[in-house]
Amino acid sequence: MKFFIDTADIEEIKAAKDMGLLDGVTTNPTLIAKTGKPFLDVVEEILKEIPDKPVSLEVASTDFEGMMKEAEYLSKLGDNVVIKIPLTVDGIRAVKHLVDEGIKTNVTLCFSPNQAILAMKAGATYLSPFVGRLDDIAHEGMELIRQIKTIKDNYNFKTEILVASIRHPMHVVEAALIGADVATIPYKVIAQLAKHPLTDIGLERFLKDWEKVPEKPF
Ligand code: E4P
Repeated sequence: MKFFIDTADIEEIKAAKDMGLLDGVTTNPTLIAKTGKPFLDVVEEILKEIPDKPVSLEVASTDFEGMMKEAEYLSKLGDNVVIKIPLTVDGIRAVKHLVDEGIKTNVTLCFSPNQAILAMKAGATYLSPFVGRLDDIAHEGMELIRQIKTIKDNYNFKTEILVASIRHPMHVVEAALIGADVATIPYKVIAQLAKHPLTDIGLERFLKDWEKVPEKPF
């Protein structure tokens, strides 16, 4: 499973990149706004740090013409830019046009299997179902990922399932068990993945015992 980081914070992107496991970045207007910096400054910073892996940038228009105009602008910012488009009728129409122009897309705000079918049929590069926001309203987010995976496999759709709105490590584990292609993960959750109390206790004990070993080479 590929690991994307879900952030516009350059320090978090650098930290995830340093781990050596980063396969891409996803942003959205909320994450960009959180930085408090001008849009183009944030994007330039991210693309400089990640010049060769997919970076999703979201359009702000909701009508077809506006989305196409913004998609063309954003796609010129870097060869690795993926255009994030909301899952609406106009959005799906824009995806179809962008696919025909060879521009990569990430269909966002997917909350149902019927929406997923539309995005996959349109040929989206990535589809982002939001598991955490479904959990928030007492729907099982991961059930949606299972359904989308079955539909994808039934018809051999090429769209990559990008599990989004991840809130905790179990979301990552479940996404991997289902066989999702990508998980876009907040930095806090990436760091949590490595944590286990038995690892901490075990390491402490090994280090204590290491002190007793005579004539150590290091
Ligand atoms: C995905 O690309 C979205 O940016 C993101 O995962 C949304 O997560 P949230 O529901 O925690 O805002």
